[in-house]
Amino acid sequence: MYQALFQVFFRRLDAEFAHHLGALIIRLIGLLPPPKYPRAIEIAGMKFVNRVGMAAGFDKNARLVRGLYRLGFGHVEVGTITPLPQPGNAKPRLFRIPQLRALINRMGFNNDGAAVVARRLKALRASGTDLPIIGVNIGKNKLTEPAQAADDYAACARQLARYADYLVVNVSSPNTPGLRDLQQTDSLLPILQSVKEHSGKTPILVKISPDSADQDLLEVANLVNRLELAGVIATNTTISRPVEKSAVLAEIGGLSGLPLAELSKEVLILLRGALPDKVIISVGGVETAADVKERLKLGADLVQGYTGFVYHGPAWANQLTRDA
Ligand code: FNR
Repeated sequence: MYQALFQVFFRRLDAEFAHHLGALIIRLIGLLPPPKYPRAIEIAGMKFVNRVGMAAGFDKNARLVRGLYRLGFGHVEVGTITPLPQPGNAKPRLFRIPQLRALINRMGFNNDGAAVVARRLKALRASGTDLPIIGVNIGKNKLTEPAQAADDYAACARQLARYADYLVVNVSSPNTPGLRDLQQTDSLLPILQSVKEHSGKTPILVKISPDSADQDLLEVANLVNRLELAGVIATNTTISRPVEKSAVLAEIGGLSGLPLAELSKEVLILLRGALPDKVIISVGGVETAADVKERLKLGADLVQGYTGFVYHGPAWANQLTRDA
């Protein structure tokens, strides 16, 4: 009943306005005392209360960590954060496709910038409250030339690594021109090396696109092995439209939610084969507790979701983790 009312109300609003309203409510929820869960699951030295996290892009500026923990997410990945603040693309830039339980977005890394988010995370850490595992997802500014991209990632790592439980090198968002080209070994190697140099002992993961050829994905996996990074996050949104052509899919941007599930699983299987000992976080089209179980069975250590939360509402994380 509550869930149905929630959905009817929010779906009437513009998608991005609904997000901001939801975010405000989640911030208020974050004022409640945090739950006391046993931290039973240890992965790469991090202790998680469960295997389900909020994917990057929902809490771009690290304001919702406590609220999302209160709602049952065992980890929250904040960002993507760029060195300088930037406004992102022109609105509208977020579109619902309820009949497919999907979203298309072309947000373009709207965020407060590394310095502001670092201050916010520092205050959060100093607050003394119980927190989930916090991942910090980093990227490059839109106006940074590709040749200087490694400097942007290094600048983010330098400012943010100390406040992160893990860092994510995002080279897979489709909404920053040229960003996904950075997945090529020649570009990715110097980026990962410089992030490593500035991250101390913080585990580093690479977030991967579902649109790359298998060979390219295997080369990324190769780098993860070679540089002894912690693992990968698979996947980001897709610019493909793996469903019947339909006018609702005409918007430019990354597609997430149910239509991404098969692609995301294929990438998970491929990467698990190439990375038997690394952390893999599976994301893309997860909706139910059975989906979570399936991803774990396919070799994921952890699972994340974003679009499922938009369609299923605040009880979603608890539904996913109840018997996972
Ligand atoms: C995202 N996603 C994303 N990923 C990322 O690494 N950095 C980001 O800033 C964003 N921003 C973002 C905004 C919006 C509106 C959406 C819907 C998604 C991608 C997200 O983290 C995830 O990889 C995909 O959405 C696939 O998961 P779901 O949504 O199918 O569960």
